[in-house]
Amino acid sequence: MDSSDASLKRAAGIILAGGIVALPTETVYGLAANALNADAVRKIFEAKGRPFIDPLIAHVLDFEALEKIAVPNLSARRLYDAFCPGPITFVLKKRDCVPGIVSAGKPTVAVRMPSHSVMRRFMAEVKVPLSAPSANPFGYVSPTKARHVEAQLGSKIDAIIDGGSCECGVESTIVMLVDEDRPMLLRPGPVPRSEIERVLGRALIDPKDKNPAHPTAPGMLKTHYSPKAKVVLFEGECEFESGSARVFFKRPQNPRKGEFWLSESGDEREAARNLFDLLRNLDGSFSTIYCQKLPDSGIGEAVNDRLGRAAAK
Ligand code: TXA
Ligand code: MG
Repeated sequence: MDSSDASLKRAAGIILAGGIVALPTETVYGLAANALNADAVRKIFEAKGRPFIDPLIAHVLDFEALEKIAVPNLSARRLYDAFCPGPITFVLKKRDCVPGIVSAGKPTVAVRMPSHSVMRRFMAEVKVPLSAPSANPFGYVSPTKARHVEAQLGSKIDAIIDGGSCECGVESTIVMLVDEDRPMLLRPGPVPRSEIERVLGRALIDPKDKNPAHPTAPGMLKTHYSPKAKVVLFEGECEFESGSARVFFKRPQNPRKGEFWLSESGDEREAARNLFDLLRNLDGSFSTIYCQKLPDSGIGEAVNDRLGRAAAK
């Protein structure tokens, strides 16, 4: 469906009746259900083939709406004032109204306030928090265009709202804020580590999962965001297998057959925006895809994180 007021009204009706709808956000497309309706949320897990141990992010309009489902603290308030609405997710203590299926039985809930204008119009219309994981089959790369969702989940969901291409192209940054003395970066994303550290005035801790079957952030499973092709990361010089695809950060001066690039000029944000679309396009045509790592700063950390997981097989 298009993103007209009439379509959003129809889609809101579907959500309030317990259905599931794919929606654009500034990061990637999400597959949404009413977060307060456990039966509706279960349909998301079924459509995606997602294990129930992997909790979902609840999407709300503003801090006031966050306070209805999570217990806020000063760190969350500061980060909200600095970056929201925008591509950052807070993990906080959950309130009792949030069903266990949303949080995979944990006492915490992940909440984010997206900035995408279509998503915000939709949230204002539907007026319930929305559980929305990325709208892809579990483990595959996230969708950044409506047609990516259509191709993989079209027959399993009630509607797709087309809001164009996603601006960021990688999923939100996730910070665990339950213990304010030990803020943790659960997933790097468009809001860079350094900016969060500046606002909080302390360093972010990296999760060290002792039990890989029950990671702190299950979306951080080592293999995730994977195309079917074999992905190999490289930095600097590399011997490429013949017949493989080679993806460079920057456009090569004289591109040859089999060479692709994430950005014309070597811009990290442009590279992030193109990453999943390019991997999808190459998947199927090539059995091996070589990908050049980005500089590890800014959104580059998130791109390298996703590439690392795509390569871990
Ligand atoms: O940008 C995004 O965040 C996108 C768009 C659609 O908003 N959503 C997204 O959702 O990436 P998903 O389900 O693909 O990733 C959510 C991840 C989980 O895999 C898990 O790692 C983490 O968020 N998470 C959710 N609830 C959590 C909790 N209570 N504690 C720790 N991690 C949690
Ligand atoms: Mg996902």
